[in-house]
Amino acid sequence: MTSSKYTYLVFGATGRTGRHFVSIALNEGHKVTALVRNPEKVDTKNSDLKLIKGSVLDYQDFDKLLSGVDFVICMLGDAELQKTENVNAIFVEKLIPAMRRNGIRRLLYQAGGFTRPYKKSLPLMFWLLKQTLVRFAGLIGQHRDNEAVVKYLVEEAADIEWMVHRAGIAGDGNSKGTLRRSKTKFSIATFADCARYNYELLKDDSAIHSCDLSYYVK
Ligand SMILES: NC(=O)c1ccc[n+]([C@@H]2O[C@H](COP(=O)([O-])OP(=O)(O)OC[C@H]3O[C@@H](n4cnc5c(N)ncnc54)[C@H](OP(=O)(O)O)[C@@H]3O)[C@@H](O)[C@H]2O)c1
Repeated sequence: MTSSKYTYLVFGATGRTGRHFVSIALNEGHKVTALVRNPEKVDTKNSDLKLIKGSVLDYQDFDKLLSGVDFVICMLGDAELQKTENVNAIFVEKLIPAMRRNGIRRLLYQAGGFTRPYKKSLPLMFWLLKQTLVRFAGLIGQHRDNEAVVKYLVEEAADIEWMVHRAGIAGDGNSKGTLRRSKTKFSIATFADCARYNYELLKDDSAIHSCDLSYYVK
């Protein structure tokens, strides 16, 4: 894609990755529309930022939300609810038909490094950590939900230019460098670096239909 000014529709704009993504997109001169449960959590004041109050659990007016949008990005998480329900998958299954109706083709979904790619196993060390640390942290459900999203995208949304970032994140510290896409290499990144990576990935045609990890280039 050529360099231009775009409108990004952001889900999860008040989250730890999402808030960095919104700042990056606005600083780069783009417009951002965000569906947020709590607009008061957003302290950015910018005429290019449009906040729409609502929840992905029951939002109905997708066509209004998607009007004029170039890219859609989901950095959503509700770990408690995801323990029992695939809420993100249910949401994405409503979002994709709405994207089709509105002629919007590109979606980035942020999952995690412990999210299994479609019909693949995790490497043994990842699997062991998932069964121990991730389970202990109460995040197994979040990855199950992310895996349901990936399954839906692969099986039902081949016409959409989706990309999944299986992020590894810990901490909101300063930048540790630049992340690159990889099927095997993995780094524990900062939220800000993940957001920057997401921003670049969305413009990268070679990432279409990928479900990759990210790592810091030396
Ligand atoms: N955190 C990590 O260490 C980590 C590591 C690797 C991968 N990931 C993946 O990255 C994704 C995002 O993680 P994150 O840590 O950046 O997010 P986060 O800080 O947990 O924030 C989640 C975002 O989702 C929003 N949200 C949740 N339920 C919603 C609903 N019903 N309607 C509208 N918005 C809703 C939250 O809004 P509110 O502000 O209203 O709650 C918040 O903006 C997840 O898929 C996660 O698996 C996270």
